[in-house]
Amino acid sequence: MVGGLLLLSVRSACGHAALSFPRPRNAIDGGLPPWSEWAYPCDASHQRAQCRISFCEDGKNCAGSCPISAHSGVPNALNASNGQSCYWFSNGCTIGCASCDGTSNHVGHGAQRFLYHGMDARTLVEKNLTLANPWNPPAGAMRLDEATRASLSIKANCANPTTNATICDPRLRTANTQAECGSADDFYFFSPWRAPGSAPVIDACGSAGGRFAGQGIGGAGAQFQNSSLARQGDKGSQLPAMPSHVTWKAGSDVEVAWTVMANHGGGYAYRLAPADAPLTEETFRKLPLDFVGKSILRWDGDSKTELQFEGWRTSVGTLPPGSMWSKNPIPSGLWEREGPGFEPVCAESEECKRWASGFGGEQGVCRCSGYSNLGPLLPNLEIVDLVQIPRHLKAGKYVLQWRWDCEESDQVWASCADVTIG
Ligand SMILES: *[C@@H]1O[C@H](CO)[C@@H](O)[C@H](O)[C@H]1NC(C)=O
Ligand SMILES: *[C@@H]1O[C@H](CO)[C@@H](O)[C@H](O)[C@H]1NC(C)=O
Ligand SMILES: *[C@@H]1O[C@H](CO)[C@@H](O)[C@H](O)[C@H]1NC(C)=O
Ligand SMILES: *[C@@H]1O[C@H](CO)[C@@H](O)[C@H](O)[C@H]1NC(C)=O
Repeated sequence: MVGGLLLLSVRSACGHAALSFPRPRNAIDGGLPPWSEWAYPCDASHQRAQCRISFCEDGKNCAGSCPISAHSGVPNALNASNGQSCYWFSNGCTIGCASCDGTSNHVGHGAQRFLYHGMDARTLVEKNLTLANPWNPPAGAMRLDEATRASLSIKANCANPTTNATICDPRLRTANTQAECGSADDFYFFSPWRAPGSAPVIDACGSAGGRFAGQGIGGAGAQFQNSSLARQGDKGSQLPAMPSHVTWKAGSDVEVAWTVMANHGGGYAYRLAPADAPLTEETFRKLPLDFVGKSILRWDGDSKTELQFEGWRTSVGTLPPGSMWSKNPIPSGLWEREGPGFEPVCAESEECKRWASGFGGEQGVCRCSGYSNLGPLLPNLEIVDLVQIPRHLKAGKYVLQWRWDCEESDQVWASCADVTIG
């Protein structure tokens, strides 16, 4: 029982992710302590907080909050060279609105709860029941607990949103996927992912801690640990350029990757901007990149442990019109809060199913489902794609933007990386 209760409290933590390759400007503090002194797993020189995967809700002890695979050849090895890149985002943003408010979260982290054949997760644990398919059970098996319906708030963050949801196909959705689009049950209707690219942002490269300068630390993980290089409320578009780590040829297909910590479903896109242009959404919308080939999950940065699969991509109902977006392929497994999701693309173990059913367990028992902030997934997993660099792009310095539009929260994550087209 203790495991079950602990799990419920952990599950209130919120979503974070960042570009892992190429290295983003948002990783600015990755070379400073405590991030430079952090490594996983623990060893003689990395003990307690220096090897603990953590989630800091108060802007303190964030060393192990955004780790990525160390690409060292050692299975499961992580480092914190990405600094706090996974805390750069925009909070309180819904589709078709002109601005974010930095605060609101209508349904993400909401009080709605689902029941499985009338039972909550605690009862399942008491009865020692593991769900056969906790991610996408047969229609009707998992239903909203009517006693929690009053907590639902299905609305935009502005009075007259200029769009309704364009993502209605259940296969493109990631949470509460069995609710009919636009119905009174479809409580993620105004979430950023439901009309990709149409939610506003606080900053196109994220805001440190997800809020406007001066708003301070907020709920839903809207916080940042101040360092000598970056502070809560800083704008990602104002971060200094980093040395470019890659040179890409115009017309070629190139690899990009991101790592999820807390997992709010939804989907993502990549865009480019000339490095000397204002790094705004308006600029990035002019150069959206197409995904090509299969989607890839890769563990430990090692192509020998990767899985290629048919991803879920769409260019319909997106902004800019025709731009290609890809669904986040990792189901969160947070069924009590999000209801049915979708099945993982890899085979998951019984232990992983037990975690998703509510039992808890060791971090790492799931390979391609769940979440990495105190969850069953290890952040040695990267979501890798090939994107196509336009054939006629002029050589020069560019900034690559990764934009993640969440479905389970009113949040948009972003990372920006320096690249060279040559
Ligand atoms: C940390 O991991 C990155 C790959 O994700 C790697 O390039 C870098 O060299 C590693 N840094 C250290 C100090 O091990
Ligand atoms: C609970 O279920 C698991 C998996 O089905 C089983 O291995 C275990 O023996 C059960 N425990 C009890 C106390 O029945
Ligand atoms: C959204 O849908 C509602 C209900 O069908 C409709 O009244 C409204 O005009 C739509 N809004 C937009 C911007 O299309
Ligand atoms: C972090 O920096 C912000 C912006 O300068 C400031 O408002 C906040 O008080 C700082 N937080 C701490 C804990 O020092």
